[in-house]
Amino acid sequence: MKFTTADLTPLIGTAVVTDRDSLLDGSIASDLRMLLEQRGVLLFRGHDMTDEEQLRFAGTLGTARNEHGTDITKVSSDKARSPIFAEYTEGTYFFHFDDTYMEYPALASVLRARTVAPAGGQTEFANTYAIYTDLPAGERDYLDTLQAVHSQETIQRKAFPDPTDWQLSLWGEGAIPATTHPLVWHHRTGRKSLLLGETIRAIPGLPRDESDALIRKLLNLAERPEYLYRHEWQVGDILIWDNTGTMHRVVPFDLDCGRELHRVKLAGEEPIRAPGRVSA
Ligand SMILES: [Fe+2]
Repeated sequence: MKFTTADLTPLIGTAVVTDRDSLLDGSIASDLRMLLEQRGVLLFRGHDMTDEEQLRFAGTLGTARNEHGTDITKVSSDKARSPIFAEYTEGTYFFHFDDTYMEYPALASVLRARTVAPAGGQTEFANTYAIYTDLPAGERDYLDTLQAVHSQETIQRKAFPDPTDWQLSLWGEGAIPATTHPLVWHHRTGRKSLLLGETIRAIPGLPRDESDALIRKLLNLAERPEYLYRHEWQVGDILIWDNTGTMHRVVPFDLDCGRELHRVKLAGEEPIRAPGRVSA
């Protein structure tokens, strides 16, 4: 069996139907990579993989990035199960792409649902290629001249307006310095996407009110239903998102409900860039 596909929405998300062997032996990996770049989110349902199989599947698509000493991270709000990730759960309720502080942000993440929340806990994705492409040409050209300062502290303060010293030691700008990226990512394919997120603190060179208004306007575009896919998790689901052409966020859920996803991050293969500019 090769595979068949069904789009989840017109602009973002595709379900892929195939057998487990085809996922694990790499025979359709290059097709899936192309589909991921085009569709932003790929869903594989009903495979019930183990951690080892998830890692093997992810390894056909790219290179697992070791984080905190492991290639597979437990995404859980239970501090006993996932002491580091649990600290960030509420911050993930706001749109972001992963690794804003890196020149090579993750290419993609491969998530597998182990335990789902009884209410909330869906993951939403917005297509940042489509948001950019649909803007008027003059606006696209203007945005192409701008950069944006991304900061973990900016997004975390939306969840924790009065952080403790401990929290600031984890994600304050003293611990994770802010980074400046172009607002428009010129990909090696020739396509362009917006580098958006609630991580953006400011647009350098613009007065504060103008900068805030522009950031909010662009983030509001991401709320339009045509750019969004909301994933309702089922146990066993495997979902991959292109971290270079989408933003994501989690719908709030009961932090004590036991929701747990296992994640393999694929190392970035392409630096954030725009012509004539270097990411700082
Ligand atoms: Fe994330």
